[in-house]
Amino acid sequence: MNKFVANIFVACFVFTLSQAHQQKHICAHEIMNEQLDQEIVDFIVYENDRNLQSTDPRNLKITYDMAYFSNLSNNLEIQTFRSYCEKSIIIASNFFSNLITIVPKPAGSMKWDSKSDTCGKATVPSVDKATDKDSDLHLYITFSDNPQETYLAYAGWCRSLISRGPTHGHINFNFGLLKSFNFTDSLQFQSLIQTVTHEIIHILGFSRSLITQWVDSNKNPHINSTVQLTVRGILTTFLKTPNVLEFAKMYYGCDTIPGMPLENLGGSSSHWETTVIQDELMNAAQASTIHIFTGFTAALLRDTGFYASVNSNMEEKSFYGKDAGCSFVTGSCDGNKREFCHVGSQEKNCDYYYQGFGQCKSSIFLDENCQIYDSFSYPQCFDDSNNFQIDPTFKNALGVSFGPSSKCFNSSLIKSTNRSIQKQGICYNYICTDAYQVIVDVGGTKVTCSNNGEQLQVVGYSGILTCPEKLDQFCSFNKLCPNNCNSNGFCNNGTCICMNGFKGTACDQAA
Ligand SMILES: *[C@@H]1O[C@H](CO)[C@@H](O)[C@H](O)[C@H]1NC(C)=O
Ligand SMILES: *[C@@H]1O[C@H](CO)[C@@H](O)[C@H](O)[C@H]1NC(C)=O
Ligand SMILES: *[C@@H]1O[C@H](CO)[C@@H](O)[C@H](O)[C@H]1NC(C)=O
Ligand SMILES: *[C@@H]1O[C@H](CO)[C@@H](O)[C@H](O)[C@H]1NC(C)=O
Ligand SMILES: *[C@@H]1O[C@H](CO)[C@@H](O)[C@H](O)[C@H]1NC(C)=O
Ligand SMILES: *[C@@H]1O[C@H](CO)[C@@H](O)[C@H](O)[C@H]1NC(C)=O
Ligand SMILES: [Zn+2]
Repeated sequence: MNKFVANIFVACFVFTLSQAHQQKHICAHEIMNEQLDQEIVDFIVYENDRNLQSTDPRNLKITYDMAYFSNLSNNLEIQTFRSYCEKSIIIASNFFSNLITIVPKPAGSMKWDSKSDTCGKATVPSVDKATDKDSDLHLYITFSDNPQETYLAYAGWCRSLISRGPTHGHINFNFGLLKSFNFTDSLQFQSLIQTVTHEIIHILGFSRSLITQWVDSNKNPHINSTVQLTVRGILTTFLKTPNVLEFAKMYYGCDTIPGMPLENLGGSSSHWETTVIQDELMNAAQASTIHIFTGFTAALLRDTGFYASVNSNMEEKSFYGKDAGCSFVTGSCDGNKREFCHVGSQEKNCDYYYQGFGQCKSSIFLDENCQIYDSFSYPQCFDDSNNFQIDPTFKNALGVSFGPSSKCFNSSLIKSTNRSIQKQGICYNYICTDAYQVIVDVGGTKVTCSNNGEQLQVVGYSGILTCPEKLDQFCSFNKLCPNNCNSNGFCNNGTCICMNGFKGTACDQAA
């Protein structure tokens, strides 16, 4: 009887929390790109120009044009939206200028000479057809108002130079969805920056229609950059250009890996396959969580051959499927591995990265018979706004906490001795020591996890807390940045890189 009561208790606690911004958003790159005029141009380098041109690489310089916003409306809501979009583009461009160096394209080659007058929804202004630009990539920024669609933004390249890569591209924001975001909240603004970063990577080369244009270090096209194989019953395209192939071999610990699988929903796509890598920045489904810019995407950018260097210090560590062997990539999903869960399981457990908890679910992005604990439709531990929505009675009984120093633990802890709850994912504050011990704070009472998977009791609570399976990994997972860089910078490997005008570990001081 008491057990039954306590279970309803917890169910209510979950459902009274806001779920507004936790839904997945699907990148619309594929659908939208097919409707575009794209042109590969061959720029003729004249003898005179050649000597004028520097061959020294410089930090990638992205420029943008937001005239579309002012042209269409001077509505205040749209102008506020415009200023957040612009800030996210400035911060994302700063990410790429830290990440990539490029040998500037020949003089004159940034002049628009394509047959089409449009790039995406934008009309190319005549000045862009008449003059060159001191830029390595010029972006036209537009928006649409489609609240019924699931995409936050889409993007594509419009003009690309043979063996030198894209010169012009466009990004279209979906105002219809984004207007419900609260961009004064630094966590939600950080997710907008991640979306823009994702979109710009499509333009820079991770695009089905550009893969054939990629070149090797001698500026020759790659031979057979992809191979198709049927895995887990689905025809899947594997990218096998040299850097990606090498990284995949090393990461999974599989020398015979055919390549890195691309998202196989509806044919080959310009995203990584979610079944083998979770939470990668270049996966198809986006959520306001902590994305990981892994060595896979860095290797892909190197394999385009368009860039002089891609900074390996900015690659973030990922553990999903790491060293799991060939069967992880080409075999069936093993519900005993922590990456997956057992099909049909009714438990509500922590996701792989302990960011939140959810039900064992399949999704259109996972191959057949592969399910994961999906935390997207539940409150995620790191989201502080949940802290203020919990009924104090429940908060007290369970000892939960939300916020940047909270993660999910397997637990059946509940205050007092005559109640019990089932084991499930619960958010608690924690800290990691240098020796990879995890000190968990259950409603103010601290207990220490010293061994992998250890089971602990907590004074004043009935039930058991299960420590993370691998404490060293738990403590090395990608972290949020201090106060999400106060919306004045991007977060890389837990460190803020501030935009011009700001400094400090949280980009909270004027520079
Ligand atoms: C702005 O609107 C005018 C008139 O409708 C059009 O000619 C022009 O191309 C538009 N500019 C942009 C940047 O969309
Ligand atoms: C938006 O976020 C800010 C900062 O977290 C908060 O102060 C404000 O109340 C939020 N606004 C709404 C409408 O939720
Ligand atoms: C490239 O693919 C074709 C057809 O799939 C195959 O015949 C050829 O041997 C491959 N070349 C290399 C170098 O792998
Ligand atoms: C990322 O940060 C961790 C410390 O939090 C550090 O040990 C690691 O070297 C960093 N990785 C890179 C690539 O800088
Ligand atoms: C939680 O416990 C379940 C079994 O009850 C297990 O399958 C799951 O991997 C555990 N999750 C974590 C995050 O430890
Ligand atoms: C549980 O125990 C407390 C005392 O420890 C008591 O006051 C309370 O009524 C009990 N609750 C139930 C549902 O039996
Ligand atoms: Zn995408």
